[in-house]
Amino acid sequence: MTVERTLSIIKPDAVAKNVIGKIYSRFEDAGLRIVAARMAQLSQAEAEGFYAVHSERPFFKDLVAFMTSGPVMIQALEGENAIARNRELMGATNPQEAAPGTIRADFAESIDANAVHGSDGPDTARTEIVYFFGEDALGA
Ligand code: PPS
Repeated sequence: MTVERTLSIIKPDAVAKNVIGKIYSRFEDAGLRIVAARMAQLSQAEAEGFYAVHSERPFFKDLVAFMTSGPVMIQALEGENAIARNRELMGATNPQEAAPGTIRADFAESIDANAVHGSDGPDTARTEIVYFFGEDALGA
């Protein structure tokens, strides 16, 4: 088992639904610790930079518009196998395909308003944590 850190974002739809606390409980109940957190209203440039890897995909403009449509809650999570654990808790990208009991099954409406983001691998996790919290948030 490896102790890792991962980057999580509670997206504008879930913040608007007032379920930040419920989602935090999912993380904590699964043994993930919140080691950095801040609420933010992303600028277009911040959202475009964060999702730059998807810039050629057809939904890029919609994704950036959605992520700048209201406040988001950004956190770094730490725990054993935190990256995969968080992805399990989130469920599939499309909430219609997300397993029962996952965050997206319970709180998301559609593939473009799907409640949460989570880093998909170790390199992405490092890049994304530094993007929002700086090098210090990478931990030991
Ligand atoms: S993932 O989560 O990276 O494996 O999924 P992927 O399919 O590669 O999607 C990347 C991010 O784009 C979002 N997405 C969309 N947004 C708007 N419209 C459509 N159709 C759409 N399809 C995918 C998806 O929620 C992913 O966002 P993040 O924040 O990375 O979860």
